[in-house]
Amino acid sequence: MATKTIDELDVDLFKEVFKKYKCRKTPPDFSELVDFMNLSSKHKEEYGIKRLSLQEPDNILRLADLQPTHVWNAYTLDKFPGFVHISNVFKFNGQRYWVYRCLHDYPTKPNVTNLDFIEQQLGKERPENLWDACYPKVKTAESNAEKNDNNASKKAKLSSDKDQTHHTNSNRRSESSKFHFDKLRWVTLGYHYNWNDKTYSEFEKSDFPSDLAYLSRYITAAIGHSPVFRPEAAIVNYYHLDSTLGGHTDHSEFDHDAPIVSISLGQDAVFLLGGVTKAVRPVAVHLRSGDVCIMSGSTRLSYHAVPRVFQSKFFKSSFEPEPESDYVGIRDFEDETMKISDNFSDISRQMKNVYENLEWQPYEAHLLKGRMNISIRQVLKAGQTFPKSMPYDS
Ligand code: SIN
Repeated sequence: MATKTIDELDVDLFKEVFKKYKCRKTPPDFSELVDFMNLSSKHKEEYGIKRLSLQEPDNILRLADLQPTHVWNAYTLDKFPGFVHISNVFKFNGQRYWVYRCLHDYPTKPNVTNLDFIEQQLGKERPENLWDACYPKVKTAESNAEKNDNNASKKAKLSSDKDQTHHTNSNRRSESSKFHFDKLRWVTLGYHYNWNDKTYSEFEKSDFPSDLAYLSRYITAAIGHSPVFRPEAAIVNYYHLDSTLGGHTDHSEFDHDAPIVSISLGQDAVFLLGGVTKAVRPVAVHLRSGDVCIMSGSTRLSYHAVPRVFQSKFFKSSFEPEPESDYVGIRDFEDETMKISDNFSDISRQMKNVYENLEWQPYEAHLLKGRMNISIRQVLKAGQTFPKSMPYDS
């Protein structure tokens, strides 16, 4: 009788590790996680962890929110080829811009969110801007005085912040509804992923945000990915402290040679990365705000999951502008925007407006309760069009 391989025996080591980290009754030992901020020699040896040296890409300018690539900490794992973990990518307050985009901008139409389905059920439109509706702003005497101060920087105000107002805190937020911000679970950008049939369609598409496209191209260029990454779809996941994301693979894109770029914001998480079957015991990685993971090569189609989100010990410092010399300052923008006048200048201007005018407190308060992840994908191969019949596997 032929011996059965571990796959044929239907061993699910992925589930075993997932359950361990999900369990609330017996809290897991987080010190067992692979922590790239504090790598143990045991983990280095067990997974073949190696430092990857990065080059400043020469054909794409660095946005002002980013650290120079020589200070990024990038690691690969021999046991999981094609996976790259990078930290120290963003400047101290550089992440604030992306938090603003994920909370304030991306959940607006025509981007698709899980709330669209609630809309259909209720036959009622969700607010045009969910963040502004759920965290309404109130005018203060101080802000009215500021309004009269007619200087140049006021003109560059974010369109949504024209009134120089302050957000109310969570206990005064609109309780209106099923459309409460805490109900937001995901947003899709670019080609909108259809969760039911696990497909993308050429007809379900909105413009991919140019800033996110730029950022993901920059990151993939820095790790030496070739050919040029073409970001066409993204999923932003919104987690609460008790949320999990079950084990899955990302097969729906047509180009499996292009990497997935995944950016974490907010509280910490346990990220599991396994193999192409669940018989492979996954590595459990500690993810923090600002960490970037790349899944490429043989891990592009690997099982992965988030069994746990947990409170970060360093949450505040991930977003604080200190030390002074290392935060996103106006000079960064002035230097950079002088150099080129294209997409880069528009994105830089938009970033500058956010940094100058963002009232950070409500965003920080919201992030204390959870985490967000942006995963950016290339759907089609360069020059490819959507096939007539859709040969998807799930
Ligand atoms: C995903 O797999 O889509 C998200 C992973 C994460 O939240 O880190």
